Amino acid sequence: MSIGVFDSGIGGLTVVKRLLSVLPKESIVYFGDTARVPYGSKSNATVIDYSIQNTNFLIKKNVKAVVVACNTASSIAIPELRERFNVPIIGVILPGADMAYKETKNGRIGVIGTRATIHNNAYSNAIKEIDNEIEVFEKACPLFVPIVEEGWTHHRAVYEIAEEYLKDLREKDIDTLVLGCTHYPLLADVIQEVIGKEIKLIDSGIATAEVVRNEINRIGLETNSAVPGNLDLYVSDIPTTFKQVAELFLGKKIEEVVKVEIEELAKK
Ligand code: DGL
Repeated sequence: MSIGVFDSGIGGLTVVKRLLSVLPKESIVYFGDTARVPYGSKSNATVIDYSIQNTNFLIKKNVKAVVVACNTASSIAIPELRERFNVPIIGVILPGADMAYKETKNGRIGVIGTRATIHNNAYSNAIKEIDNEIEVFEKACPLFVPIVEEGWTHHRAVYEIAEEYLKDLREKDIDTLVLGCTHYPLLADVIQEVIGKEIKLIDSGIATAEVVRNEINRIGLETNSAVPGNLDLYVSDIPTTFKQVAELFLGKKIEEVVKVEIEELAKK
């Protein structure tokens, strides 16, 4: 059985990259909802609806667990997914929040993400659930997503935009910053330079891969394969720049990608 992963688009491949390094023998079925991306500017009801459809698709592929790689969907849809589906559903928010909590020394954590993730206070609720004394400062950075998809990960325009977005956080005396969006690890160099070298950046994908490994062991479904697992990629649309952008996220060549019709997804 494979591990299912879904995202609003190709950004979740940053999480797949982490999974592949922690669990190289496991096979992964990935679904990227490239026809309906972005989720970060959509209503909660729509994000829940799409997340149910995406999970349904993965369950039909007989996966043993579902990883919600999208921060926005993880912020909004996890309770609903857990209620409907019988496999472990693992989001990226709790692992990222937990890692940030373990990392902070001064109890002041910054979080950046899409408008929806920040608006829903996903990370600050999760961090405060662990320890209510921690101060959390959140900032939506919506332009980072299209910029990364344009491949401008080190363009000078990104530095200017990052300056604008991060200037308030710089005054909050944070010592830890959560990269609360699938795309942001690709901007880690720029973000690190702008926010300050001394600030620890948290990549939720890294934290999530560890949680997935523990969960698979807990349910006793780790693979006993001796060879590297397969990566099956499904998307709801194949834009012209798909391959180039997807390879940027995954950090390696992509062999094949299969298009799924939206009507098929929406079928009960
Ligand atoms: N995958 C989304 C996230 O991590 C970013 C792209 C989108 O807005 O759909 O929040």
